[in-house]
Amino acid sequence: MSNGRVFADIAGSYDRINRILSLGQDQAWRMRAVSHLPAGRLLDLGAGTGAANEIFSRFDVVALDPAPEMMARNGARHRVVAVGEALPFAPESFDAVFSAYVVRNLDSLESTLDEISRILRPGGRAGIVDLGRPATPLKARAHRLGTAVVLPAVGMLAGARAEYSYLHHSLDKLAAPEELYAATPFEVIDLWRMGPLGFVYGVVLEKTSPAAGAMMDAT
Ligand SMILES: C[S@@+](CC[C@H](N)C(=O)[O-])C[C@H]1O[C@@H](n2cnc3c(N)ncnc32)[C@H](O)[C@@H]1O
Repeated sequence: MSNGRVFADIAGSYDRINRILSLGQDQAWRMRAVSHLPAGRLLDLGAGTGAANEIFSRFDVVALDPAPEMMARNGARHRVVAVGEALPFAPESFDAVFSAYVVRNLDSLESTLDEISRILRPGGRAGIVDLGRPATPLKARAHRLGTAVVLPAVGMLAGARAEYSYLHHSLDKLAAPEELYAATPFEVIDLWRMGPLGFVYGVVLEKTSPAAGAMMDAT
């Protein structure tokens, strides 16, 4: 099953089930990353149904998502159907990028981070929130057992068993965030874990200005 089909198929039930699975914490987890972003023009990358729109009052928001079924439910004024790996925007045209629960679903995180770096102004920031596995092997094993049972069961109740089983497998797709963001075009401003057993992470990345880069080269 392709990523695109997964989100097209669960667009109608996504918000409700996300809230239940996160025990009502999904917005608080988004908010923590949003609070680190500079005000101005913000790209919500993989915006889905627009669950984060209510916490974007400081921003002029452009919502982007490849699934038209998700975008059709998103109330943002500016909406674009596209993928993170090929952003249809001019260089340095955004102050901030936000992306929640998307990274595991990308075809290429590397290309998407390059694109985010291209469209951010120097000093601009990206705030990313996603799910993964807890940091220690024992907790990760317990969590893997839990999601192997819970996610297909929730999927069955929602009439989307294959889609929620996809979510279970996607949690093991990428390296731990501490490793994932260590070598990117950005400076890591903050990285934290949250949620039960720390299976949710947030990271804030800043595009360094050319002057700051030159000063570092000279030292
Ligand atoms: C789990 S939903 C998250 C939606 C929203 N950000 C939220 O916080 O509720 C993941 C979203 O990522 C989108 N997505 C999948 N592949 C993508 C890609 N390559 N580029 C951008 N978004 C993508 C999906 O269509 C889906 O709407």
